[in-house]
Amino acid sequence: MTVTITSQGDVAIVTIDNPPVNATSHAVRMGLMDALTKTEPDSAVRAVVLTGAGRTFVAGADVKEFDAEPVPPHLPDVVAAIEAATKPWVAALHGHVLGGGLELAMGCHWRVAMPQARLGLPEVTLGLIPGAGGTVRLPRLVPPQTALTMIAGGKPITAEAGLKFGLIDALAEDDLRQTAIQFAKAAQGPRRSLSKPVTGARDENFAKVAAQLAAKARGQQSVTAAIAAVERTIDMAPEQALAAERTTFLGLKASPQAKALRRLFFAERATLNDPRCKGPARPIDRVGVIGGGTMGAGIAAACLLRGLTVTMVERNAESAAAGATRLHAIVESSAKRGIIVDTRPVLDRFKTATDYAALADRDLVIEAVFEDIDVKCDVFRQLDAVLRPDAVIATNTSYLDINTIAATLRDPSRAIGLHFFSPAHIMKLLEIVLPDQVSDDVVATAAKLAKRLGKIGVLAGICDGFIGNRIMSAYRREADYLLEDGASPTQVDDAMRAYGLPMGVFEMQDLAGLDIAWAMRKRRAATRDPTERYVDIADQLCALGRFGQKTGKGWYDYDNGMPVPSKKVDEIIAKARSSAKITPRRFTADDIMERILAALRSEAAAVLAEGIARSADDINVVMVNGYGFPRWTGGPITSSG
Ligand code: COA
Repeated sequence: MTVTITSQGDVAIVTIDNPPVNATSHAVRMGLMDALTKTEPDSAVRAVVLTGAGRTFVAGADVKEFDAEPVPPHLPDVVAAIEAATKPWVAALHGHVLGGGLELAMGCHWRVAMPQARLGLPEVTLGLIPGAGGTVRLPRLVPPQTALTMIAGGKPITAEAGLKFGLIDALAEDDLRQTAIQFAKAAQGPRRSLSKPVTGARDENFAKVAAQLAAKARGQQSVTAAIAAVERTIDMAPEQALAAERTTFLGLKASPQAKALRRLFFAERATLNDPRCKGPARPIDRVGVIGGGTMGAGIAAACLLRGLTVTMVERNAESAAAGATRLHAIVESSAKRGIIVDTRPVLDRFKTATDYAALADRDLVIEAVFEDIDVKCDVFRQLDAVLRPDAVIATNTSYLDINTIAATLRDPSRAIGLHFFSPAHIMKLLEIVLPDQVSDDVVATAAKLAKRLGKIGVLAGICDGFIGNRIMSAYRREADYLLEDGASPTQVDDAMRAYGLPMGVFEMQDLAGLDIAWAMRKRRAATRDPTERYVDIADQLCALGRFGQKTGKGWYDYDNGMPVPSKKVDEIIAKARSSAKITPRRFTADDIMERILAALRSEAAAVLAEGIARSADDINVVMVNGYGFPRWTGGPITSSG
């Protein structure tokens, strides 16, 4: 039974039991209607407590049902029926109270919650707006501006914050069920969310938050629809706002953006559905990190923030102190952002050392030193000498040959690639790169680490750049071709931003610095395929010392930090065109993106054919979570992209 009714005295306890997250699937909706049919006429029932079995209350509607026609009873009708009940309904909330879960809770007359419960309406992240009254009830329970950030921003709040705003009536110290039952025994009559007025207006602050959210949407329709829904609630009678909400919800549910976002939702959860990730894993509690630079400190922080202990090794005391300073700064900013409450227990699990011997007790060591194969091989040899034979040794290289690095170990089967993305404590993606001889339990260990760190682990094979960087180099190459063929850096960057990317490829290079890629191109010059088209505009920029923002000039000139098109760069481009005998042509933004995406898709097809990625879905997950491709396209290699 997905919904059961038990009782304690005159309080009926209605429990939703629909693992894994108690989604409001058809059986749950039926069960709740049935519970109303039974409790309403029962004179032995004075009040009802609604609760969820297992680790969570209700994490939302069942996303798996969204591709089919909705089957009654519909969730808005269930919520309305609970709200209309003549007996007090008390929601007992723990774990995730999201989407349809929060809408059910708002249909109840009172809400009691564990302090750590997370309450939110994340539908916007699935290309939707709430469809069961969420946009109409929430602004009646919390200030409209808070409702706006929760609905159009999709960000949940804690129950503690909910209490402050009035969404929660009481927090339970320990026994949620008993607290809710006591509450229900004392509750006086139904108290309906929809009967409350909206307390607040569409003032200047509201407009400011709405404008910020709309600007961040970068083409995602659900965000603008969510803002409009909250505005309607402020302006309209609840019945009208409810009807408009439902129409918008159903329209968005069938939209290409929502379909693409649903596909991505399941793709992100399926990346480690691989037999190699399912077997027994080795321990990962004690981590070593080699290198305290930006990447090393970020990886150390990612581990510490998720409860692991970390020893960071640097070559001397000065570098170790600098690494520790970087790490402390990240942990402190995480506390400011509310990710941790107290920095002390986190920092207590961290130490630095200058001797590899300090890593003798580590379960897993990740090297994050300079991107040079000789340096990395040397680190691996030193680790081999001091680590336990069962410790996993990982490299954070972003493109080097991990087979060569693994071959330096007596037992190469314990080597693996863990390619983090910067900033490593924030970015969700982790490419798990599998050298030829890696053992299955090492792969399972890397998968366990990804989950423990809250990251999306994607399995990748060995090639230059693995999945993401390899595809991105094809994409950058095409952008260079476009310059030689007639486009300007500004046109290319504008087209990319219009597509929904946070930045264009040239402004991105100016931000990151052009010199590292230049050094790499020079190293590879001797082995370059002479038949392949090569555009040397970037090389010419570098030869003039135009390394980007750090030298004040790159693809753009910088005027007070703002990029402005550069005459010098235009000249270099014009010369390159004439020496390649190219008559420049005009491109529209669509032409530019079509060419860039076609190059990217053709490289993605090669990545798939060579078995570097398991599936097109995995590639989309990488491009969205590692490289800023807009989520609402589902990723660049879906048909909707
Ligand atoms: N509908 C259907 N299945 C869902 C679901 C939903 N709303 N929410 C989660 N699941 C499934 C996941 O697909 C996963 O299934 P799997 O184990 O077969 O892969 C399982 O529940 C666990 O989810 P997962 O995300 O891996 O667990 P988590 O503990 O990391 O996160 C949540 C839990 C609830 C925070 C997260 O799943 C989530 O954000 N869910 C969506 C919430 C939402 O958007 N609700 C509004 C829907 S309109």
